[in-house]
Amino acid sequence: MAWYSLTVDIPEDESELAQSVLYEHGAAGLEVRDSLNQTVLTVRAPAKGEAILIAYFEDKQDALDAQEELTEKVAGSRFAVEDVVERDWSTEWRNQIKSVTVGRLWVGPPWEKPTAPKDKVCIFIEPKMAFGTGDHPTTSLCLAAVDTFMEKHPGASVLDVGTGTGVLAFAARKLGASRCVGIDNDVTSVELARECAQENGIEGVELSTKTLPGIEGKFDLVLANILANTLCELAPLIAPKVNKHLVLAGVLVPQAEEVTAAYVKCGLKHAGNATIGEWIRLEFDA
Ligand SMILES: C[S@@+](CC[C@H](N)C(=O)[O-])C[C@H]1O[C@@H](n2cnc3c(N)ncnc32)[C@H](O)[C@@H]1O
Repeated sequence: MAWYSLTVDIPEDESELAQSVLYEHGAAGLEVRDSLNQTVLTVRAPAKGEAILIAYFEDKQDALDAQEELTEKVAGSRFAVEDVVERDWSTEWRNQIKSVTVGRLWVGPPWEKPTAPKDKVCIFIEPKMAFGTGDHPTTSLCLAAVDTFMEKHPGASVLDVGTGTGVLAFAARKLGASRCVGIDNDVTSVELARECAQENGIEGVELSTKTLPGIEGKFDLVLANILANTLCELAPLIAPKVNKHLVLAGVLVPQAEEVTAAYVKCGLKHAGNATIGEWIRLEFDA
């Protein structure tokens, strides 16, 4: 069956009105991206003060009628109607997952086990409801930094803030980290990270939903791949945990200055950047 999507960029305070118009015209499903529903890194985020609504319709005319009503009712809304190509998502999503090789590390899905390179340190991540299959630029940037640091500091202690699937903590552990802690404020992520550790036969990584003040001591390497605004908020809690080196990601190039300033203010020394496309990795020394 063919589906049609109507994407509406709209002032955020008109979002509820627009949602009811979309449902009245028969929307079968609705995705809302706004300041309350934090946008994942891989999709287009709304402009400041705006929301993005994506409504799915069986009948294209319903989508066009909804667009017409919203044009009349809400000034400043912008629209796109698109055909949604029906695909077998039960298998097709697998094609979207790419394995990555970063330095000594290889990260990929379990079904690539038979072809995973024998000369790399391999981590298998089953893509589920947690961020961190390795192929996102922010994760790759961090994996490269983990590889470099662990090569120079074998046996270092490592803290991974916002661990998601646990991928960075696992990489550090497999490359010889001693104490290795991964924390995330999302319970599901931590459950999945624990499963992932087990499936990879990785022991000794402390995974929990503890907050930073609940974690004792300092760590030679601290990693945090979270969004820029969260990194700025967490700076006074993350900076005191750094014994040697801090790696931040999840930051877009235009946000780098603000995030850097927040950590320099907390006493760390800026020690370099690296970018992949629009994403930047920031590094600091204690
Ligand atoms: C972009 S993902 C990074 C996952 C993984 N570390 C990687 O590099 O691929 C960010 C993670 O940070 C978590 N997170 C967001 N805000 C947080 C906070 N204040 N404290 C701890 N974790 C947080 C999210 O739940 C998510 O799992």
